[in-house]
Amino acid sequence: MSASGRLPANRYGHFSDGGTEYVVTDPRPPRPWANVIANERVGLAISHTGSGFSWIDNSQLATVTRWQQDLAIDRSGKFVYARDSESGQLWSLSPSPVWAPLDRFACRHGMGYTSFETVAHRVAARWTLFCDSAESVEMWKIELADVSGRARRLELCAFLEWCCGVSPAPRREFGRLFLETWPDPERRAVFARNHMWDVPSPRDGHWNTSFPFVSALASTEPVSGAQGDKAAFLGRFGDFASPESLRHGAWTPLFGRHEDPIAALRSTVDIPAGGARTLGFVLATAESAEATAALVDRFCRIDAMDSSLARVKTGWHERLAAHRMETPDPALDTIANDWARYQAIVARLWARCGYYQQSGAFGFRDQLQDSQVWLTIEPERCREQIRLHAGHQFADGSVYHWWHPLTEQGHLTKMTDDLLWLGFVAGSYIRETGDLSILDDAAPFLDEKTPAPLADHVLRAFRRVFHRTSARGIPLIGAGDWNDGLSAMGLEEKGESFWLGHFLAGLLSDWAEIWRRSGRADLAADFEERRAALTAAINAHGWDGGWYLRGTLDDGRPLGSSSSRVGRIFLNAQTWAILNDVAPPDRAATCFAAVKEHLVTEAGALLLAPAFDAPVPEIGYITRYAPGQRENGGVYTHAATWAIAAAAKRKDADLVGRLLDAINPAIKDPDRYFAEPYVLPGNVDGPDSPHHGRGAWTWYTGSAAWLHRVIAEWVLGVRPEWDGLRLDPCLPPDWRRARMVRPWRGSVWDIEIERAGSPRIEVDGRALEGSLILVPAQPGGRHRVRVQFA
Ligand code: GLC
Repeated sequence: MSASGRLPANRYGHFSDGGTEYVVTDPRPPRPWANVIANERVGLAISHTGSGFSWIDNSQLATVTRWQQDLAIDRSGKFVYARDSESGQLWSLSPSPVWAPLDRFACRHGMGYTSFETVAHRVAARWTLFCDSAESVEMWKIELADVSGRARRLELCAFLEWCCGVSPAPRREFGRLFLETWPDPERRAVFARNHMWDVPSPRDGHWNTSFPFVSALASTEPVSGAQGDKAAFLGRFGDFASPESLRHGAWTPLFGRHEDPIAALRSTVDIPAGGARTLGFVLATAESAEATAALVDRFCRIDAMDSSLARVKTGWHERLAAHRMETPDPALDTIANDWARYQAIVARLWARCGYYQQSGAFGFRDQLQDSQVWLTIEPERCREQIRLHAGHQFADGSVYHWWHPLTEQGHLTKMTDDLLWLGFVAGSYIRETGDLSILDDAAPFLDEKTPAPLADHVLRAFRRVFHRTSARGIPLIGAGDWNDGLSAMGLEEKGESFWLGHFLAGLLSDWAEIWRRSGRADLAADFEERRAALTAAINAHGWDGGWYLRGTLDDGRPLGSSSSRVGRIFLNAQTWAILNDVAPPDRAATCFAAVKEHLVTEAGALLLAPAFDAPVPEIGYITRYAPGQRENGGVYTHAATWAIAAAAKRKDADLVGRLLDAINPAIKDPDRYFAEPYVLPGNVDGPDSPHHGRGAWTWYTGSAAWLHRVIAEWVLGVRPEWDGLRLDPCLPPDWRRARMVRPWRGSVWDIEIERAGSPRIEVDGRALEGSLILVPAQPGGRHRVRVQFA
């Protein structure tokens, strides 16, 4: 199934290729519109201007090429210059850095590649960048054609600045003293390594470790000039838009350990009249110069590039094919089936990077949630992620808030929810697969090397949270719960979190069930009792009259109360009370009505309202954001997806429809919305911002995996439970039908959902009683399901 029907376009671009490609046709959309391209090791972030950077294994600590984050100018990165040898006219194969007038411009951001198509000075060019699907190599394929009818001689020059270490690098003049570059004429390559990696090293002490990789930029063509020094390339006080050396014939190459390290490789390219030429560059990175050279030898050939790119494209198609949804809204289908999942896998799980945030680290709660994107297609990968995070827990149950792969630096905080996501995602895995053997998966603790089963890890997390409970039975908030910015409410370990209470209540029910199924009746009974006590405590102390409080501060003052001028009502404290059945029916109805009244906007559901308009140190840094931005009264997309789930649970089809439209980037007016139309933003400004409706923080947001899950499980309503697949749709009022194909417990389920006179469900032609399809005794095959709902 791919998106059918018309996909939206706007004045800056449009979808193509069934929605899996976005074509930016105007070089000046309101912001850089970026792509993130990566395999599990290397990647690049690249905007429609051509700016961006590359990394290996950790997009912050192991940045290969230098980039200056500057969304207003966006003229920093890796570029290809073209110069007509006859006329001397200079341009670049992407708008940046030269910004020469282009007769044609298209930037195609696809799954696993970005292509720039330009016509300038009667030369047509296509520059395609991608990474191999397995090896640590990035490739640039360049196709050139003469459209003037004359034979042409061009000089083509690839350019980048080496970083080979931590970025952003605040002490550039210090950092560059340790870099070394050298040419390899035989390979038409420039190599780089860094003799100092600015990360803590317990063994060797301060500033005394080498960057563990060697990189090379290589060309498929004979090289007429190679340069390793930035000033020599640009000229004194030069300019990226017109490097001085591109105007000179012969270069004096400067390589070694004493320059300002770049790589520039220039080639002369002859194109016959009306003819075409194809050439390319590779950027390879590996653990040694030999291994890097081997990658260059293997991939710096056009045929190798072609087959690698073909593998990337089919790889993405196949990866996303097993689970598809089709609704009357093709724009939503494209976002949900293709882009949101691509975003979750590439930007969140592999690159851990976007154009607004270069993280590289694993957030304990973040990538666990993201890994749910694998559940319906490759559940083993979700299980691996769970194991990885279990291994970043201490024996007392606490966990790193985040840690860096490569160096294993971690951040231990008083954040109080992180550790519980282990149990949350393991529960999702068990509902999806039915496989309780995950409870035996062994992982060590950070401070106790003997591996322990996952069940033990989860139990230690619960026990730590049980221990961190206020006298009236509400979990403490510490340095923040899901909302990082509530960073000071509970530093004295008195402040409480009602959201965390709702979250914990759901987990207690889930794990009572899991303990029962795994033969731990004692724990099952204990968890049930705790759930009842917690629900009672929340309802005794957390109800503000019209909605649930968000929490209390160390000094006992409430947060999220009608008695407050700002921060009066918080979204998560209502949606999770509904989703986890903490709210009794009358309160669920009341707090949901309050959400609709105070938080629902045309841009989605706000995280809180009204926004804080001045710092409140006792609450935390959330109050320091500009009003209406990010968590401070913006639409925080991650939480806004949970509002859709809650609306579906309340069977408010109208609101489901409105919230889906509100959140869909593809149908926004870009002059108001600014951000990319194909991926989700971390946030959209709320009404307390002068830019209400403006999206930002695209790519690096936990909303991507969640939006997909919420549409599948709550809107189409196909929800795995312990013993069956629940069919419980809540389609927007203007949808008559929807369809989903997905694997589940060894069979393929082809589910048609239809609005009809009377509710009825048929499985393989036979009427189903109730709405739960039980796990088939015999897995395998394909089942046809018809769901009619009133
Ligand atoms: C950021 C954090 C995430 C947190 C969210 C809400 O996205 O990475 O962990 O849940 O903000 O504060």
